[in-house]
Amino acid sequence: MPTITVHGSAIHYETSGTGRVALCLVHGAGGSTEVWRAQLDGLAGAARVVALDLPGHGQSAGDGIASIDQAADTVRAFVEALGLGRVVIGGHSMGGAISQTFALRAPEHTAGVILVGTGARLRVLPKIIELIDQDYPAAVRLVVDLGVAAVASPRLKQSIYEQTLRTPPRVLDGDFRACDRFDIMPRVGEIRLPTLIVTGIDDQLTPPKYAEFLRSRLPAARLVIVPGAGHYVQMERPDEVTLAFHEFLATLAGPRA
Ligand code: COA
Repeated sequence: MPTITVHGSAIHYETSGTGRVALCLVHGAGGSTEVWRAQLDGLAGAARVVALDLPGHGQSAGDGIASIDQAADTVRAFVEALGLGRVVIGGHSMGGAISQTFALRAPEHTAGVILVGTGARLRVLPKIIELIDQDYPAAVRLVVDLGVAAVASPRLKQSIYEQTLRTPPRVLDGDFRACDRFDIMPRVGEIRLPTLIVTGIDDQLTPPKYAEFLRSRLPAARLVIVPGAGHYVQMERPDEVTLAFHEFLATLAGPRA
């Protein structure tokens, strides 16, 4: 479990694989590298895969994120510190907001974009933010109930619940407040890089409508709609999502800069 110091904080990350393409994966609100377990394992033959824990999440130090912009700058500093060159930046939910912002702010670092269960605007149900203060387990339960499709196994649902509950309440609160302020709907079409958009057909937290909007605005985007999956699509249907990543990465030619 390596760490690297970024902006004065120890950032934990996990890595797998080798290859000319580097894929940097960013988790969502209350998440960690764990949300990418299947992709870390399944893409090792296709790319150098690096997943990080944002400040205050998983095994990284820090107090959480203050804004999506700030988190995107942290990810950029992380990519520079590791010497990854141009990366395919991939994110889930809040991590997708960070990835879109990364691509807009640092196109010179970006070879492609993968957006999973996300959108160009991420308003949050006020009930979620209220419950974080009042009854933290109930807040996390609500997020997971809305986030996982009805067909998911109870075991997966419980595992996502327990993973999310390990995030300190103040950190999850910061995540959702940052999401709630995020809105790049007027600007997202400026991302002209090859982009893969993945959405679970039963996603209630970032509905497929958000993904359709992204596809309508991004000139070089491909959309994959995964049946039988909700917001945690890459954990609910890991094989389908890993295959979609694999096919997308294969289309990206050329060496890392
Ligand atoms: N892409 C495309 N369209 C979007 C969008 C996106 N990222 N975000 C919002 N919109 C659309 C909505 O569908 C809505 O369209 P409509 O007026 O045709 O129905 C419109 O923009 C306004 O939506 P929104 O900004 O979300 O405000 P709201 O007051 O209608 O709803 C919530 C607020 C919180 C109830 C709603 O955003 C929601 O249910 N969010 C999902 C639940 C959640 O908390 N997700 C967590 C995300 S991290």
